[in-house]
Amino acid sequence: MPKTLSEKLPSRRSMLSGAAVLAAVPAFTAIQAQASSGHDQHSGSGAGSSSGAAAPSNARATAGGGSGGTVQPATTNHAGHAGFAGGSVPPDRAGIDPTAILRDFDRGKTSTLPDGRTLREWDIVAVDKDFEIAPGVTFPGWSYNGRIPGPTLWAREGDLLRIHFTNAGAHPHTMHFHGVHRAEMDGTPGIGAGSIAPGQSFTYEFDATPFGTHLYHCHQSPLAPHIAKGLYGGFIIEPKEGRPPADDEMVMVMNGYNTDGGDDNEFYSVNGLPFHFMDYPVQVKQNALVRIHLINVLEYDPINSFHVHGNFFHYYPTGTMLTPSEFTDTISQVQGQRGIVEIRFPYPGKFMFHAHKTEFAELGWMGFFEVSAS
Ligand code: CU
Ligand code: CA
Ligand code: CU
Repeated sequence: MPKTLSEKLPSRRSMLSGAAVLAAVPAFTAIQAQASSGHDQHSGSGAGSSSGAAAPSNARATAGGGSGGTVQPATTNHAGHAGFAGGSVPPDRAGIDPTAILRDFDRGKTSTLPDGRTLREWDIVAVDKDFEIAPGVTFPGWSYNGRIPGPTLWAREGDLLRIHFTNAGAHPHTMHFHGVHRAEMDGTPGIGAGSIAPGQSFTYEFDATPFGTHLYHCHQSPLAPHIAKGLYGGFIIEPKEGRPPADDEMVMVMNGYNTDGGDDNEFYSVNGLPFHFMDYPVQVKQNALVRIHLINVLEYDPINSFHVHGNFFHYYPTGTMLTPSEFTDTISQVQGQRGIVEIRFPYPGKFMFHAHKTEFAELGWMGFFEVSAS
């Protein structure tokens, strides 16, 4: 039976006192700065900034009541409870900027191998870090490079990839990539290098294959918290010949937050921050082809979904084919499932997108596309 908000709240409050203690843990910012330097960052909207996208209702996010012009039922529900003021946390305070993450594809540091192939290299550091994921709610996360979700790694089919992984966290971790590779590069405990202990490093090396929209995540046991604490990210392999050009391309990682222990989530989001895209709608242009790499990493709940209002889209499961399998307005994904959504908005205006699961939507997994007239 689905849990109601009130059933979840008492344990969430008890978690809040624990979060205050954990907030005193240093955030390893020096390590993150080192990890992110020297990269050929491709960022359509400016990684780390609040992005160029307009935020017309920004002020409402800090207003507390969340009683702006838009209908926001979950905010209303949350608003009366201690420790939760409602609305989304401003990205600079949260430590997560879902709008910047949308168009932030990290192509790594590239060089050419003797055989003419491209070598792509990344430095990824696992760090423990606190995030304010909802007003007054601190989540003691485990992250890749200080962000949830981790960087979206982008490669072209056939490239050689080297991921230099350092574990600066307090627990053993791995990086497990979806794709085709040798067993010892699989990031599975007990195989090859297996678990990477705190303070240790390992370089994963494999070819970029097959093309598609993939993901990576920690595979340390117990697996559920190692994923749910934030150790995951998108892994995009572009076909060798490319895809037909899109006018806009973005990544959306669907996740959840278990803030009070147990085996359920108290919050849900796209790109890491509940309700963010209600306050900062995804800016798109009328009639433009928008390609969305949609990835579900949600732990504890068996199925996630994506639904858009007033429109239909073509869906390419796992992104491994160049022709879509479905024309729809709703798709579902289990954990680890992903695919490409291609959509054009014929009408200007604001259109909601959300999980077609009311509980998830009301706990943060909802937002808007804002379509500007062309
Ligand atoms: Cu881990
Ligand atoms: Ca919980
Ligand atoms: Cu997986």
